[in-house]
Amino acid sequence: MRQFVLCITIFCLLCTYTRINAATTVDSLVGCLRSKGVLNYTTSGSPFYSTALDFSMQNLRFTEAGVPKPAVIILPSTAQEVQKAWTCMLRGGWALRVRNGGHSYEGLSSSASAPFAIIDLINMHKITVNVQKKTAWIEAGVRIGELYHAIASQSSNRLGFPAGTCSTVGMSGQIMGGGYGMLSRKYGVAADRVLQAQVIDGNGKLIKRVSTSNPDLFWALRGGGGGAWGIVVAWKLKLVDLPETITTFSLWKTGKQVITDLVYKWQTIAPKAPPELFIAIYMAGISYTGSPDMGASFYGQYWGTINETLALLNKIYPELGLSESDCKQGNWMQVDSLVFYVLEISNRMHSSL
Ligand SMILES: *[C@@H]1O[C@H](CO)[C@@H](O)[C@H](O)[C@H]1NC(C)=O
Ligand SMILES: *[C@@H]1O[C@H](CO)[C@@H](O)[C@H](O)[C@H]1NC(C)=O
Repeated sequence: MRQFVLCITIFCLLCTYTRINAATTVDSLVGCLRSKGVLNYTTSGSPFYSTALDFSMQNLRFTEAGVPKPAVIILPSTAQEVQKAWTCMLRGGWALRVRNGGHSYEGLSSSASAPFAIIDLINMHKITVNVQKKTAWIEAGVRIGELYHAIASQSSNRLGFPAGTCSTVGMSGQIMGGGYGMLSRKYGVAADRVLQAQVIDGNGKLIKRVSTSNPDLFWALRGGGGGAWGIVVAWKLKLVDLPETITTFSLWKTGKQVITDLVYKWQTIAPKAPPELFIAIYMAGISYTGSPDMGASFYGQYWGTINETLALLNKIYPELGLSESDCKQGNWMQVDSLVFYVLEISNRMHSSL
């Protein structure tokens, strides 16, 4: 028992110490940033602060008063600036939150229990595609939509990358957590397609070539490490081949029993379907007439024409009742999930409210 009390006392002493230390060192953190030429930052109380903090936050709970806020938000433009910013934070004993797209629903990129600063990578979004080698270097602040667009436009729609379906999600967060999407049945997740990463380690050192030669760190950065093994500043990705013609489809179904039956069938066909077919289900509670019910969007894509898609679906999943008017045919960007699905789903959600 005495040991327990002692532990608590020591713990609280440390808490107090950290708080006082941090409160008195905001000025010295800012002074350090300025002396190193890291000039794009904003501090609590300055005009740009709330916008910089809140605009990309997807879970609005973390914008509320009472949620711990960063003392400083730093917006570096280069890996060297990230390195300098982190070195200044290390000196002052600051906790760090790195923000890429702001989609962490747990607030991991926007809040912390210890005094902290955010390094927001929004200004680091350069993309260099090598069409011949089918690779791309991306800076760590690149978002999914930016990446898809850059790859498609530079490769005349013949190359792509298997990551998520929401265009504003940050690529770094995606890769570090796996990265599942429309192409994943064919090509795996985003983390499977990383060739190399550039990382700033806990001491502020830039490691330029993290790859199979550095297996533990490389593993940790691709889903194994919870995103806490350094600050990734760039990724080298292996791109994937895409066919000329893809069909995408989306159907809206309502009714608990209808959806239950469809989901049951979907579970039995999904593992056996060809990898060029992807079908996902987005379910929601709805209320058309005031009484609660269930609605679901069945959406996906297939590597083929509309007719080929209909032929396949009517064979393996006739219960879905897919028809030509549910489908769109084109290249990867034209049928793009990012626009098509998100708009379709949100239109249907809104018209059902
Ligand atoms: C700092 O970064 C923000 C976000 O990208 C940008 O809007 C702003 O213009 C930058 N400020 C300076 C001084 O570079
Ligand atoms: C698709 O199939 C229908 C009926 O089987 C046919 O009439 C139509 O010409 C086909 N469309 C294309 C583009 O092949």
